[in-house]
Formats: sequence, C-alpha cells, structure tokens
Amino acid sequence: MEIIILPSAAEVGRLAARKIARTIITKPTAVIGLATGSSPLAIYAELAAQVRDGSLDTGQVSGFALDEYVGLPADHPESYASVINREVTTPLALDAARVHVPDGRADDLEAACAAYEEAIRDAGGVDIQILGIGANGHVGFNEPTSSLRSRTRLKTLAPQTRADNARFFDDPDQVPTHCVTQGLGTIMDAQQVVLVAQGPGKAAAIAAAVEGPVTAMCPGSVLQFHQHATVIIDDAAAAELSLADYYRYTYANKPSWQRF
Ligand code: F6R
Repeated sequence: MEIIILPSAAEVGRLAARKIARTIITKPTAVIGLATGSSPLAIYAELAAQVRDGSLDTGQVSGFALDEYVGLPADHPESYASVINREVTTPLALDAARVHVPDGRADDLEAACAAYEEAIRDAGGVDIQILGIGANGHVGFNEPTSSLRSRTRLKTLAPQTRADNARFFDDPDQVPTHCVTQGLGTIMDAQQVVLVAQGPGKAAAIAAAVEGPVTAMCPGSVLQFHQHATVIIDDAAAAELSLADYYRYTYANKPSWQRF
C-alpha cells in the first residue's frame, strides 16, 4: 500500500485526479469505480476542469458507482443515481449509457445485485476504483463486520453512517436504513484502488485501515491485501498514523519515473 500525505485537502484532490486521468489517458476505455460522498468531490471537479479545457477525453470511459440507498426514488436529489449524474456524469461529460449505479428500487434486490456484478464483469472489470472511508472504517457501505470477501448485496446502514449522512437530508429520519453496496471482494477485484480522506474526523479510521490488523471490524483494512492500493490523505487525516514521517519521507524520495 502506498500512503501519500499532503498538506491540504485541495492537493489530495489534485493528486488523486492526476492518477485517475493517467489511467484514462493510458486506456481511453477505462472503467472507473465511482464513490459518492464528500471525499471524492475535489477529484471530480479537477477531472471536469481537464475535460472542459480539452486535456482529457472521457468519451469512452465507463463508470460503476459503489453503492445506492434502498427505497429512495431514482429522481430524489440524494439518491446516488442523482448524485452521480450531478457530480460525475454531467461535469465529466461521460456517456450516460456507460455509467451504472446499483438499483436500490428493484423488487428483486438479490437479482439486481447479481446483475450488477455481471455488468462489472462484462465491462472487463474496474481499472481504477475511487474510495472514501467512513469514520467507522467502512468502504462502500460495507459496515464493520462485513465479510472481507463479500459481493454486491443488501446491507443495513450503521447508525453512525446514517447520522454522518444526515447532513445531505432535510430530516435525519429521511436517511434510508438500507443500501445496496459493492462488496469488499468486489472492490478488491479492481486493478487499482485510490482511497482519499481529508480532515480529523477520518484520522482514526485511516490509522486502523492502514496500520491496524486486517479485520472485518475495520473494512477498509482489507486494502492491505490489495495488489495496488494508494491512500492519499491530508495532514489532518494522517494525524493518528504512527509512521507518518516515514510515509512523507518515502513520497519525498519517490523516483521521478514512479510519480503520477
Ligand atoms: C460513498 C461510499 C462511502 C463514503 C464514506 C465517506 O459511495 O461508499 O464509503 O465514501 O462514507 O463519506 P464522505 O466522503 O462523505 O466522508
């Protein structure tokens, strides 16, 4: 796992965007795994700017969202279908037909989850997965004690996650209790993973995921087994890492040909 600590949240977004852009330039048909929430917004804004100024062509890129609430109408402004459309598909000029979000409204959710897994496989798998992390260590909506090999499925949102996401809703009671999420096994199948985190509220989760034991109690810790995971965080999110100075030293001395 590569851990990169940068002085500001803006730099986190810029560097992570550079890594995503590099993937798209190398492979114009890249499949990008899309996270929602606040953490990746700076990445999307940066990529959108590159699309606008003509330095990035996303015409053939596909996207697969990590998760979706169960029970919200698709046109609800906080459904992840709406969020992905607003924050990603439109500003990055993606072809909407190539952007997929799990179906949280299907009558047969189990079949919809299996179909989502199949769609990812049919697209050739995810080339690079963007991730945030919850304060409780979740990635996607794989809450603590999620199986480390889980696939896309129905999950109950932890009370802490509902409370954290209440900021997006008029009334905390409107936050759905359930979601459909890619599993940890699904996420681990991505060729590359880029996890971004900013702010002191993520410091404990980052320390547990990066330096703690690999355990379902901190789902993000499964990334320690990933073949190509990069964690890009700001100083505040790095505050509880015991080897922070070592990660800064390693990045400062990273060979130029390995920089992105
Ligand atoms: C979002 C997702 C979640 C978020 C996490 C952090 O699709 O799967 O794991 O990445 O809850 O959320 P923010 O970025 O809003 O702090």
